[in-house]
Amino acid sequence: MYAKIQETANWLKERISTQPETAIILGTGLGRLADEIQVKDRINYSDIPNMPVSTVEGHSGCLLIGELGGKDILAMQGRFHFYEGYSMKEVTFPIRVMYELGIKTLFVSNAGGGTNPDFSIGDLMIITDHINFFPEHPLHGPNFPTGPRFPDMSEAYDKKLIALADTIAQEKGIKVQHGVYLGTQGPTFETPAEYRLFRVFGADSVGMSTVPEVIVANHCGIKVFGMSIITDLGVEGKIVEISHEEVQKAANAVQPLMAEIMREMIKRS
Ligand code: HPA
Repeated sequence: MYAKIQETANWLKERISTQPETAIILGTGLGRLADEIQVKDRINYSDIPNMPVSTVEGHSGCLLIGELGGKDILAMQGRFHFYEGYSMKEVTFPIRVMYELGIKTLFVSNAGGGTNPDFSIGDLMIITDHINFFPEHPLHGPNFPTGPRFPDMSEAYDKKLIALADTIAQEKGIKVQHGVYLGTQGPTFETPAEYRLFRVFGADSVGMSTVPEVIVANHCGIKVFGMSIITDLGVEGKIVEISHEEVQKAANAVQPLMAEIMREMIKRS
């Protein structure tokens, strides 16, 4: 696996003219940020050696290399979800490659169901911590030489970046919540009893991504900043039927605000 990661990184190094230290996973809520990137190179995942093969035909995803907020960046347009059938090693493969490319900071976003009764649909939540509720751990197996066998996770989300996000949100008058994101496998949304359980666990938002990538980024010493868009509510008395389309719609409505915070953060960090 390590040889494959290096092979992929070396292949990319030959094609990338810049040396980005910032990477973005353009998950739900950050799609539109892609339009603001001054793209120098666009490489389809299907052309990258060893990159996991997409399960959705015509949506293979691509790597964007360019400039955002005056910084060289690398962005993943399309991520790999565990529920699609990828192994945890595949889900986190791009993060391993990012480390080899010299990435120092990772920005991630997702959509989540709010379990905090103070949250509303359309809220932006700065992720302060997470709970790994996936059935398989991304670091299961022989240890990679990028980090220790038993990695510390006391600051999985960089406190300085959270403070910077708070400053920017305040300056721009954008309301932000803070909370714990619980990552679970999906693809089902939660039953009311599951939402209740996750709330008791300490979750403020629940979703099906991000946690594996953040664990591996931490193992590589990459600093992480993440945000969740609250697209539906898993709060007793407020639970209604939801669909992927509604999640997308709610996320699209607040995308510009999240993008504004992220862009400014990249500029200043
Ligand atoms: N549960 C899990 N994943 C989600 C949700 C949810 O309520 N909303 C958006 N992604």
